[in-house]
Amino acid sequence: MNLLGISCYFHDSAAALVCDGLLTAAAEEERFSRIKHDFGFPDRAIRFCLDHRGLSGRDLDYVVFFEKPFVKFERILSTVVAAVPWSSGVFSQAMTAWLLDKLWIKNRIRERIGIPADRILFIPHHLSHAASAFFCSPFQRAAILTVDGVGEWTTTALGLGEGNSCRLTDELRFPHSLGLLYSAFTAFLGFEVNEGEYKVMGMAPYGTPCYVDKIWQVVHQASDGSFELDLDYFSFHYSTRHTYSQRFLSLFGAPRTPVTPFDNQYYADIAASIQRVTEELVLGLVNAVHAKTGSTALCMAGGVALNSVANGRILRETPIRQLYIQPSAGDGGAAAGAALYAARVLFDEPGRFTMDHAFWGEAHDGAAAVAAAASAGLPFVTYSDEESLVARAVELLVTGRVLGWSQGRFEWGPRALGNRSILADPRRADMKDIVNSKIKFREPYRPFAPSVPIGSIERYVDLPNAAEHLPARFMLLVAPVREDAQDVIPATTHVDGSARVQVVAPDTSPRYHRLITVFGEATGVPVLLNTSFNLRGEPIVNTPAEAVSTFQRCGMDALVLGETIVFKEGSHT
Ligand SMILES: [Fe+2]
Repeated sequence: MNLLGISCYFHDSAAALVCDGLLTAAAEEERFSRIKHDFGFPDRAIRFCLDHRGLSGRDLDYVVFFEKPFVKFERILSTVVAAVPWSSGVFSQAMTAWLLDKLWIKNRIRERIGIPADRILFIPHHLSHAASAFFCSPFQRAAILTVDGVGEWTTTALGLGEGNSCRLTDELRFPHSLGLLYSAFTAFLGFEVNEGEYKVMGMAPYGTPCYVDKIWQVVHQASDGSFELDLDYFSFHYSTRHTYSQRFLSLFGAPRTPVTPFDNQYYADIAASIQRVTEELVLGLVNAVHAKTGSTALCMAGGVALNSVANGRILRETPIRQLYIQPSAGDGGAAAGAALYAARVLFDEPGRFTMDHAFWGEAHDGAAAVAAAASAGLPFVTYSDEESLVARAVELLVTGRVLGWSQGRFEWGPRALGNRSILADPRRADMKDIVNSKIKFREPYRPFAPSVPIGSIERYVDLPNAAEHLPARFMLLVAPVREDAQDVIPATTHVDGSARVQVVAPDTSPRYHRLITVFGEATGVPVLLNTSFNLRGEPIVNTPAEAVSTFQRCGMDALVLGETIVFKEGSHT
């Protein structure tokens, strides 16, 4: 059975193809449209998924949408009506948008994909999240926790996965939302909502959580893990322009403007405080779902599951021993969840698999790499054997060069994991500033991740049984860097001595694993600084042409595209 999952119309549209119960292809639309967080109908991602398997729309058994648009519309309508007259502007905006576009999703899918209306299914938003985690996990039985901004009504859900069953048993509803609480502080700290949440997490270690008591005035958690926002402090439930109210400003003062220095102590302390409260709320929910299910295995999904600092604490501080989060844990990933839910729960298809890598996107052949370098008029060398290619790349890294590294299928989810990455030597303390200012053009407080082969993790990071923790392969766990290693890899050790480590396995990333291993043989340190292959504000590159264009617009020194190394004009080849 061929099932196509779709997620769109909020942020990070995506498509995913599941054939006979197995995920085959999955990609976010932004990688093709080149619009960051593209939320439009994912025409190009759908085309890629179908082409990958040589299918047309007529070959699909069902198209599965990741939420129920009418229920979501009901929520928007009722919250807006409840807030009248303050929200009359919102009311007409929401009505117009939904009636013109979102509500007619079934017609849109029918027209664009060429599938009859009775072959289109709608799965509740949080069930799509839950299925995206459980049906990709290695577990036969596991507790499930989904936490995001909001789906239709649900913002947080607890449940249990077992075999082909995936059920949610408890939920919290809008407007009581951990995702929206974090977003309110993201906006207060001068960052863009749905984009700047990582920046808050990166800024937090520069502050101390001395305002947690103030934050506990706007959110309350009960002993069963459930929580409530004090709505007097917020406005997202009746305004599309503001997330917090005047009362919030009376409590926390003036918001940070984008030009306020990042090391302003007050705002760093606020970032540390909201991060700490978020972690406490997540830990409370995790303990609650453990108590309900008795399971020490946990699957998590929803945007809040991308909070890698909170995830690290789950393994260190709760009874959970095994944690699974797939790399696209936000709404994009729900496209895969919707299709997998239909496959396993509705159609009882077999085919359990474990998503132990993120490489579900588009690949490009060697000819495309050569064509991209040649048409840009740049010098390049193509290597016929991998050892020579890797040896040359390591020579460049050891001498302080910053490399673009593009191999195979691009990653599913927001992180680059060695197939569309920018790489550098983590031993040099100045490399963090070089990559931030000359290559990424981004804020100086955002940390870089170390990529470390499975066998070497324990030398650098305090993450017991690292090989077992699949989220660490997706940079979804922050762990303490060993004290004696902090000065060894300063460029990838955050200011608080932690790292968002990526564990690299030889079976799923053979060439990348080889590169880091040979770098280790040359330097004694088998670790590389890994950051996503994009410039500030742009989506991660997909094609060789996009990689070359990005390479030309920044201070990167060389670019490895498959077996071809591209250099800057006039530099050594
Ligand atoms: Fe969501």
